[in-house]
Amino acid sequence: MINTEGTKVWAHRGASGYAPENTLEAFKKAEKMKADGVELDVQLTKDGELVVIHDETVDRVSGEKGFVKDYTLKELKRLNVSKHMPSYDKKTRIPTLDEVFDLLKNTEMTINIELKNGIVQYKNLEKKVLALVEEYDMLDRIWCSSFNHESIVRMKKLCPDMRCGLLFSDIIVNPAEYASELHVDALHPATYHMQDENYIDKAHGRGLRAHVWTVNEKHEMKALVKAEADAIITNYPDIAVEIVKNA
Ligand code: G3P
Ligand code: CA
Repeated sequence: MINTEGTKVWAHRGASGYAPENTLEAFKKAEKMKADGVELDVQLTKDGELVVIHDETVDRVSGEKGFVKDYTLKELKRLNVSKHMPSYDKKTRIPTLDEVFDLLKNTEMTINIELKNGIVQYKNLEKKVLALVEEYDMLDRIWCSSFNHESIVRMKKLCPDMRCGLLFSDIIVNPAEYASELHVDALHPATYHMQDENYIDKAHGRGLRAHVWTVNEKHEMKALVKAEADAIITNYPDIAVEIVKNA
């Protein structure tokens, strides 16, 4: 598969270089900066609601303590999640996935949902995400990804049309072959995987897309556009948009 659409820019946890990560403010900023999409992280609350937050605990972003899974949505909504970004002087809240969909539903932006089924394993996370995607009729704008490849296989089983990518934190031998065996649609490698100069060509050769994270340096952005990465996932979508435009 050849990348005919050019490199897309997906804002990592929203435009998280400029506003607190995984908040409506960060997603609005990404849209304003003309990103093609956003990446976000989903988990479940104690009362089974889909919420958008990266860490399994609330500690780093809110200054409070505890696992997301042990908070109800109402309790989570009381937290100010701007605490990790002292330069940002407004309070922000943890959004539900529903609120993010509602915010972006009238745009054309892609939404890359990372299923945070890691240290904490969330029962029915895939089912709940899929139900919301179907409720909003947004299947053609969604990509799911996860470091938990079993979670991705479960999602594919539930919905073969859901576009899914495997996140890699470790170097593995022949990721493209492995991903095609799992019948997924993309590789989501970290930038350090690009030490293999043919990584993207190998993915394309197997009909897989390559969505690379977290690409915050200009020289990396330029190299990935040149290598025809399908998406670069960055905290600074404005910079990446400019680089793609001038390539
Ligand atoms: O989806 C790409 C990237 O977000 C994966 O790492 O830790 O930022 O969720 P992390
Ligand atoms: Ca993520």
